[in-house]
Amino acid sequence: MTRPAPDGAASRVSAGRLAGDLDALGRIGRDDDGAVNRVCFTPAEEEAHGLVAGWMEDLGLDVSRDGFGNTVGTRPGRGGSGRAIAIGSHVDSVPRGGNYDGAVGVVGAIEAARALAEEGRVLVHDLRVVCFSAEEGARFGAPCLGSKAALGLLGPDDAQRLEDGRGVTLAEALEARGSSVEALGVADWVEGLDAFVELHIEQGRVLEDARQPIGVVDWIAGNRRLRMTLRGQTDHSGATPMPIRRDALVAAAAVVGDVDRLARRTRGLVGTVGEFTVHPNALTAVPGKVELSVDVRSADVVVQEETIEAVMEAAARHCAARGVDLEVDDVSSVAPVMLPSWLRRSLTDVARRFTPRPRVMTSGAGHDAAIMARRVPAGMVFIPCRGGVSHSPEEWASTDQIALGTQVLTAGVVELDGMLAGAGGRP
Ligand code: HGY
Ligand code: MN
Ligand code: MN
Repeated sequence: MTRPAPDGAASRVSAGRLAGDLDALGRIGRDDDGAVNRVCFTPAEEEAHGLVAGWMEDLGLDVSRDGFGNTVGTRPGRGGSGRAIAIGSHVDSVPRGGNYDGAVGVVGAIEAARALAEEGRVLVHDLRVVCFSAEEGARFGAPCLGSKAALGLLGPDDAQRLEDGRGVTLAEALEARGSSVEALGVADWVEGLDAFVELHIEQGRVLEDARQPIGVVDWIAGNRRLRMTLRGQTDHSGATPMPIRRDALVAAAAVVGDVDRLARRTRGLVGTVGEFTVHPNALTAVPGKVELSVDVRSADVVVQEETIEAVMEAAARHCAARGVDLEVDDVSSVAPVMLPSWLRRSLTDVARRFTPRPRVMTSGAGHDAAIMARRVPAGMVFIPCRGGVSHSPEEWASTDQIALGTQVLTAGVVELDGMLAGAGGRP
């Protein structure tokens, strides 16, 4: 069955412009082999915010930067009520990541605003295009720092406690950027928000395997992150008999095995040791210290918490058996969130104008939408990414896939605007 051509603003979405913007963004922080390094609070992330702010200005949006460093462009609505709908995502990346995670949602939101302007469509609501900072937890361990800060969920103690691998705290990174966590409260642009919608690559293979071009998210999995330091005794590898060794690496290897074993116990649960540093990491030395990270995720908070407890117990047991001391830093905990079903149904109905079988699905990855959902109704539209690969230079989605997702986002915003304006902001 051929689908009717998209009407209105969605028909103005330009795949060419999307490709051009993504390419321009992708040149920022790119390694020779195409990997993207736009880690939060680095010059590359700053440059990306500058590029996006320029696009917003070219669009005639009122551009502002909130106390944490999120960039927001606003087009006033015709309602004049100050109520707003926000769309957007993040431009920061993991180290040596891809150029689609977050970036697709930012260039898609910019293009949606362009398409609405070209159509001459002024919403009742103010339209806010949001470019979040520091969504990835790769540097400070805790994810979605920009959206948490915007909602006033980040306190001075978080900023002092969270630090990167070089011991730089979030507070110091904020100060270096001319801000401070004390300056943060609920950001002005959050006031009056009636909804937030984020376009994002799936970062898994469900859509690609099912040959479905659009997903609409019902649940966003939570995540619990630990950093562990295991301290034994660095010794000579030749002169130290096995019975007296306090080998931190042997204990750490058992922890890695248990994270994997425990995560395989329950469907939908995942567990990963992504960081693993051995000291002194010398051929002829018994490792005296190992630092490792643990990332456990589930859409079921009970399963998530039970698993992290089981991991900590197993780690304590392995360390005790080897005479190794264990220090656990409970870095962050984000609960799973169910996105409001009325908004999910609206986005799914809109998506059906563009594809016969939009898929309602859970997101295994975390997103700013999960944080925004704590204060405003939030929705997510997914597009497939090749092989489900993400957080890697091989991350990729086609321009047509991105354009289709942007059409759904654009039409979804128009639908939301009408629905919420008619209902005084609440469906
Ligand atoms: O790690 C995540 O869940 C997301 O990509 N920030
Ligand atoms: Mn992301
Ligand atoms: Mn990511």
